[in-house]
Amino acid sequence: MAPTNICCIGAGYVGGPTCSVIALKGGDQVKVTVVDINQKRIAAWNSDELPIYEPGLDEVVQQCRGKNLFFSTDVAGAIKAADLIFVSVNTPTKLYGLGKGSAADVKYIESCARAIAEHSEGPKIVIEKSTVPARTAETLDRILRANCKPGITFEILSNPEFLAEGTAISDLMSPDRVLIGGSTTPEGQKAIQALSAVYEHWVPKDRIITTNTWSSELSKLAANAFLAQRISSINAMSAICEATEADVSEVARAIGKDSRLGAKFLQASVGFGGSCFQKDILNLVYLADSLNLHEVADYWRQVVILNDWQERRFSTRIIKALFNTVSSKKICILGFAFKKNTGDTRESAAIYVCQHLMDEGAQLAIYDPKVKAEQIDLDLKSVSQGQEDRVDRLVTVHSDPYEAMDGAHAVAVLTEWDEFKTYDFAKVYATMPKPAFLFDGRNILDHAALRQMGFEIEAIGKKIH
Ligand code: NAD
Ligand code: UDX
Repeated sequence: MAPTNICCIGAGYVGGPTCSVIALKGGDQVKVTVVDINQKRIAAWNSDELPIYEPGLDEVVQQCRGKNLFFSTDVAGAIKAADLIFVSVNTPTKLYGLGKGSAADVKYIESCARAIAEHSEGPKIVIEKSTVPARTAETLDRILRANCKPGITFEILSNPEFLAEGTAISDLMSPDRVLIGGSTTPEGQKAIQALSAVYEHWVPKDRIITTNTWSSELSKLAANAFLAQRISSINAMSAICEATEADVSEVARAIGKDSRLGAKFLQASVGFGGSCFQKDILNLVYLADSLNLHEVADYWRQVVILNDWQERRFSTRIIKALFNTVSSKKICILGFAFKKNTGDTRESAAIYVCQHLMDEGAQLAIYDPKVKAEQIDLDLKSVSQGQEDRVDRLVTVHSDPYEAMDGAHAVAVLTEWDEFKTYDFAKVYATMPKPAFLFDGRNILDHAALRQMGFEIEAIGKKIH
């Protein structure tokens, strides 16, 4: 039997890892081609230095690339050859026009639909892998039908991705569930079966959930909203803890033991980041508002408001602790990625904490094991519009953490990288002006030991005496 020919449009954080695992697990039953209009990204996928850092990804790509996994800029050719087409392009928050600041920008989805219609010479199953506003499948369907060549048919499926960055490969190898939404027509059901068969190479059948298209699209927004809401809930508690001498880690442990609540996603932090949570909640808020469900919209909007407040609260604590002035003081920022085990900085809390500290004239010395200096420069300039030169004046990026911490008035942990726990902080303390401050925005360090060394510690949701 000929292998199922799969094309994925969009070689990003989702398209690349997802298709690599499909190629690995599908073996000679599948041929996967990942295409992108970004030539540099495709060149990187074809090189020894992949465009994204993800534990375990290199090994998977090395095993499959050139055998049944290909990265290419030939979008037309890959569409023509494919039976199944994943659309895995970015769907960022709109920055202009109607819905500015909350609606998802679906222009890249639309351009994929037009390219698929133009280049298809036979029937295709088109799969929404991107996170999209509810009822986007209808848009895809209309564009495809209005533009396709005579006699060509399309079936649209929704198959949202639930991987988290930093654990993408293990999430993909062993997903909690795979969700496939499709039409209830016989053709729709046949398409669902065809996609399900791809996953069945490695995912147990009882973990493959099938629903109607609209439930599937909405479930993705709902899942991210619920996850983010838990973080805002524990972060709201962290503020109460700080004022009452309760300890947020103890509260999280106590409530997490309730099997109805569960222990995951209760880690209080400087705030959630990443390309998904804020964008997808705002997408949901926009949907609710446009359905005249304003109370629903307000409910979810508050999750984002609380998160912004948590980031601001953290930088304010730094400023207040340092005697209300950080101007010209060296502050070391440990971690710039939005979470550990990724080099991704999209919506990282570190960007906003650094922005606030730059507003106050602090000298920032930044270290992250995986984020490149150019990316930090780009991110900080993007929040310094009109005064980009301040980044050149105020920020240095270091490849050695001890150099970044040397002589700093304060060290702030913004990402929970494991290596931070192994540092020789006694050595660092000796170089710092006193009082020497340490702000743990992730509650990962041994606060009692650091206190013993002489550090003044400020942590999230707890008082360190
Ligand atoms: P990304 O920005 O890393 O990658 C998207 C890629 O699509 C880019 O390389 C871009 O050049 C390419 N692209 C855009 N338009 C194109 C076109 N017309 N033809 C060919 N290529 C095109 O984005 P991502 O993080 O991979 O996210 C993709 C989608 O998956 C988004 O909708 C996102 O919400 C969703 N998602 C992301 C994650 C995550 O952890 N990043 C998890 C689940 C779902
Ligand atoms: C998220 C969803 O988890 C994933 O299912 C979806 O497909 C994409 O969006 P991601 O953003 O990659 O994944 O990482 P996640 O682990 O969810 O973390 C998001 C942010 O929340 C990070 O900044 C993380 O540090 C923060 N976080 C997470 C907390 O602050 N506390 C927690 O308890 C968990």
